[in-house]
Amino acid sequence: MRIVTSIAEMQSIARTAHGAGKSIGLVPTMGFLHQGHASLMHEGRKRCDLLVTSIFVNPTQFGVGEDFERYPRDMERDLELATEAGVDLIFAPTATEMYPQGFETYVDVERLTLPLCGASRPGHFRGVTTVVCKLFNIVQPDLALFGKKDFQQLAVIRRMVADLDMAVEIVGMPIIREPDGLAMSSRNSYLSPAERRSALCLNRAIAAARAAFRAGETSVTRLRERAEAIIAEEPAALIDYLEYRDGDTLAECSQADHRTLLALAVKIGQTRLIDNGIMGEDD
Ligand code: PAJ
Repeated sequence: MRIVTSIAEMQSIARTAHGAGKSIGLVPTMGFLHQGHASLMHEGRKRCDLLVTSIFVNPTQFGVGEDFERYPRDMERDLELATEAGVDLIFAPTATEMYPQGFETYVDVERLTLPLCGASRPGHFRGVTTVVCKLFNIVQPDLALFGKKDFQQLAVIRRMVADLDMAVEIVGMPIIREPDGLAMSSRNSYLSPAERRSALCLNRAIAAARAAFRAGETSVTRLRERAEAIIAEEPAALIDYLEYRDGDTLAECSQADHRTLLALAVKIGQTRLIDNGIMGEDD
């Protein structure tokens, strides 16, 4: 597997691949890879000729006081996992390669970034869309794969691609969970064993909401109470947000249907975790 750190070299490889009639797939990541990332790579492997994974802890999507400095990193393990998952090339630039002195251009999706994580983490999505736009310009993918674990991120990227006429097919992939239901995340490594047990309340809340919905409850007020009650049982858990929204537009709703999204962000000790579920689906 090839490792590329230079933007110019990556662009030249992409040009050559396209010239030879090969399709390019991209899985953008911030590293510390797990089976959630691997599921994107496996799907990408099936759908393209040259499979690229980017590993870049993107400073512009972290707010002041967030975990940019201590975000977990393990390049050696990441290379092993990516090789096993069939990745052809890792693009791993430095921060100065991506954001040299004088950088001042950003991509901003206006409305979809207002609620949920956009409200809790001002500027976060501006950093995400900017880096993903840059990665698309550098890797020139025909398709790019993203997880529904970051449901709002996927919606925001789809919007950016549509609005700016980017010729990239966006593929959304199901949430991969640990056997006990915890959604896989690089940030799970921050949790102590006790916090790890407390963190199960996110998935429990989603399961309880789905069960109530399937039993006929459609009042969002009552569905919210139901999910909040599960989180409240966990003394270590503090809700950042817990909201029901339309799964396509992210608009607020008062009546749930099978496309309604429950999105939640919960702090377990110092660690902020997100999870979500569509009422009429199983991940
Ligand atoms: P990161 O958190 O590393 O996630 C990379 C990709 O893996 C995202 O598309 C995310 O949704 C997906 N993913 C993470 N955990 C998953 C799980 N349990 N199941 C399925 N997919 C999962 O998201 C980012 O990085 C960054 O914001 C990025 C898009 C790379 C821009 O910097």
